[in-house]
Amino acid sequence: MATGWNPTIEQFPSLPSTNTLAGERAAAGAPTGLTLVADFQTAGRGRLDRSWEAPPRASLLCSVLLRPTLPPSLLHLATIAMALAARAAVFDVTGVTPELKWPNDVLLGGRKFGGILAEAHLSAPGGPPDSIAVVVGIGINLTFDGPPEANATSLRASTGKEIDRDLLLKALLDALGPRQALLNTVEGRAALLREYREALSTIGQLVAVHLHSGIQQGEAVGVNDDGALLVTIDGVDIAFSVGDVMHLRPAILEADEGRQ
Ligand code: BTN
Repeated sequence: MATGWNPTIEQFPSLPSTNTLAGERAAAGAPTGLTLVADFQTAGRGRLDRSWEAPPRASLLCSVLLRPTLPPSLLHLATIAMALAARAAVFDVTGVTPELKWPNDVLLGGRKFGGILAEAHLSAPGGPPDSIAVVVGIGINLTFDGPPEANATSLRASTGKEIDRDLLLKALLDALGPRQALLNTVEGRAALLREYREALSTIGQLVAVHLHSGIQQGEAVGVNDDGALLVTIDGVDIAFSVGDVMHLRPAILEADEGRQ
């Protein structure tokens, strides 16, 4: 079946950051599906201005340019499309289904092995009318368990399997195709969020949401139709569309599952 999804893959031994180069390509008018892969990044970036570091060829490090037609306020749904694609791809190559943590983490056994950084380029030319360029980068630990302080994991450590990076990339792009297409319509976005709600391990957990204004704690109870996390705090459901969510274990409220 013709889907109109034909990603073009470019591989590099080393780049500062696949997201940065993909953003430059977006600004120069590159088409949807452009996928940049690096064996190593010298200035890999994570969310919230963190760095993302990994030894050469120990991870899948890639960025995919998408040009969805959706309101700018819903651009973070591109992160959700990638998270669901990563979950499906990992199942495809390992037989194990990862958990997702809102908004951008992919976990096994409660430990992060993958993270997503989506960056919009609102004025980048080259797409259909009303489309927006968004670069969705993902790092998936294959054999690198993350820095010691991160309490993270890798696919090898969690599944006992040696994963071929290019096979995982192919599975990822295959899984992303239908999901990125869902971004373009109201019905599609609703379907994407239905899959996300089922996949999200954050629901039902005690969470701390870090905001610039401080930390809020409560129980994550759902995801609304905009993709925001609903947290019940003092009996009131509050929607969090930004921030950094930590799952808390009931007995150790201060527990931090670490960073990569
Ligand atoms: C996070 O969990 O904070 C997001 C990490 C995203 C890392 C990936 S690696 C490939 C792409 N290029 C980057 O510089 N960052 C993303």
